[in-house]
Amino acid sequence: MRDSASAPSPSSTAAAPETAAVSPANLPINVKGLKLSLKGPAGTVDILKNIDLSIKAGERVSLIGPSGSGKTSLLMVIAGLEQAQDGTLEICGHNLRQLSEDGLALFRRHHVGIVFQDFHLVPSMSALENVALPLEFSGRADAFERAREELTAVGLGHRLDHYPGQLSGGEQQRVALARALATDPELLLADEPTGNLDGHTGETIIELLFDLARKKGSTLLLITHDEGLAARCDRSITMRDGVIVSGGDGA
Ligand SMILES: Nc1ncnc2c1ncn2[C@@H]1O[C@H](COP(=O)(O)OP(=O)(O)OP(=O)(O)O)[C@@H](O)[C@H]1O
Ligand SMILES: [Mg+2]
Repeated sequence: MRDSASAPSPSSTAAAPETAAVSPANLPINVKGLKLSLKGPAGTVDILKNIDLSIKAGERVSLIGPSGSGKTSLLMVIAGLEQAQDGTLEICGHNLRQLSEDGLALFRRHHVGIVFQDFHLVPSMSALENVALPLEFSGRADAFERAREELTAVGLGHRLDHYPGQLSGGEQQRVALARALATDPELLLADEPTGNLDGHTGETIIELLFDLARKKGSTLLLITHDEGLAARCDRSITMRDGVIVSGGDGA
């Protein structure tokens, strides 16, 4: 299921937008009493337990915590890629718990950009096509022109026609960043975006990520194991065993 985040789904391009608008626009993340359980081989596991989290527009927030504490799961629920069983889930003014699959796909297309540790590019598409994809889904006639500009902004103007397999790890993550931010999303979600890169390349990617998020005015939620990086954000949230143990209620 998580792989479905690798690219926007074309299946719902014709669906009418579902509004379910609720939270104020200045609070892109408003989560209360959120619970997520998933079925594992040994039965149901409680992954997120009573999460309260609010993040203000334009804030840059890091999410840290031990492996298995639920960071990726929380990000997936906020992106509408995993369905919570209980609680309030108001993201960018939409009540995600009331949206259908098509509504969630439209919500992501219009509001959210996601960057993963392992890039999630479409291997059979060139860099240019990967970045143009979400722009085409959002109905932009100038998708390829915009994609070219976005790739040039991340320093890849000379690699437009390369396929992911013909790019270095750092270059692939630049493409993924360009793709995530091409539609000027209100919310940028990043899950250990430098986890597969060497230190220097990772630093370059982080500089780009902060710079682009600022230019686009995107609110940033960044999962990281790097405490130095976490400290560069406006606020740091710590998770442990499915709960937020500090930093959750900063809004
Ligand atoms: N599809 C699933 N079914 C059942 N359990 C799952 C599923 N996905 C994740 N889990 C469990 O949920 C818990 C939280 O996983 P999650 O991936 O959110 O952790 P994380 O904090 O992102 O860890 P890491 O730092 O290693 O990436 C783990 O115990 C994991 O085994
Ligand atoms: Mg994770």
